[in-house]
Amino acid sequence: MKDVLILGIETSCDETAAAIVKNGREILSNIINSQVNIHSQFGGVVPEVASRKHIENVGPVVDAAFREAGLEYRDIDAVAVTNRPGLIGALLVGLSFAKAFAYGLNRPLVAVNHLEGHIYANFLEHSGIEFPAICLVVSGGHTSLVYMSSIGEYELIGQTRDDAAGEAFDKVARFLGLGYPGGPAIQKAAEKGKPGRVVLPRVFLDRNDFEFSFSGLKTASMNEWNKLKRKGIANVNDLAAEFQAALVEVLVEKTIQAAKKYKVRSILMAGGVAANRELRNLMKNRSQELGLPVYYPSLQLCTDNAAMIAGNAHISYVKGDFAPLHINAYPGLLSL
Ligand code: KG4
Ligand code: ZN
Repeated sequence: MKDVLILGIETSCDETAAAIVKNGREILSNIINSQVNIHSQFGGVVPEVASRKHIENVGPVVDAAFREAGLEYRDIDAVAVTNRPGLIGALLVGLSFAKAFAYGLNRPLVAVNHLEGHIYANFLEHSGIEFPAICLVVSGGHTSLVYMSSIGEYELIGQTRDDAAGEAFDKVARFLGLGYPGGPAIQKAAEKGKPGRVVLPRVFLDRNDFEFSFSGLKTASMNEWNKLKRKGIANVNDLAAEFQAALVEVLVEKTIQAAKKYKVRSILMAGGVAANRELRNLMKNRSQELGLPVYYPSLQLCTDNAAMIAGNAHISYVKGDFAPLHINAYPGLLSL
């Protein structure tokens, strides 16, 4: 069978990314232009600034992806692009570019759900993942448990009622003056501290469902921090360690409960927060007790990238499931 080469474009948040993936598996190029240095001055992503930077970057980033792969524009078979969920202005830059590129080359367009892309990152790097599987999707905007009967087949079994896990990391880090993005900053501080010296709640752990809530943990962290500061005994590393432990324990225990209930054969993790060392370690330890394998993408493929978008698009490509040129971008989730 002829090889299928897909160009992926990702601009849903603050990374302008382009990649070319062969047959949904082999990454020929993977270019990520991060705007983190720009947004960190403001303590978080400024949507309008992100859109403007995407406009400047998308052309050069796509060209770099072709250069790195040693390919010409005409060599690709389809153009894939994230069209949901994300910052609407940011999404529209990538989508408009992808539409023009696909139209100009007379190639089909594939619209990709960003979260499906995050999940697919696992299949770019691991073979032999057995189904059914449970996937914990933890990013800056989403926290969900997804049941997968096979590749590309998803059923949402639980999600956060308020803040996403990554959002909680980012907001607490900002409050503690640890900088942006908060996840890596809290992880670093936590390594120098000790959980348990401050006590924070494990929210919803006692509930018999797969819902999450992190807004209360965020507020409790802030209150605790203010209290300790008033007493003159505030230690940022200890608070970071306890916050991380409280959040990670809930994520892991809920995932393990879901794995048991749905009798799965694999556990997957996806999204930026899946880069967290404590989360990876605890999930590995707990799943070993069940004899289940745990899969997660390498650090570079956990956070936003376009290889996961080009890879995921292969599923649609083989089905002939293409997007019309009038397709829109959506800030929220339509499904999953
Ligand atoms: O998936 P992602 O790159 O973008 C979204 O789709 O949202 O996730 C970004 C999120 C941010 O909230 C960031 O703080 C978090 O992932 N993150 C981490 C770590 N690395 C990135 N959270 C915890 N520990 C990390 N090591
Ligand atoms: Zn993401």
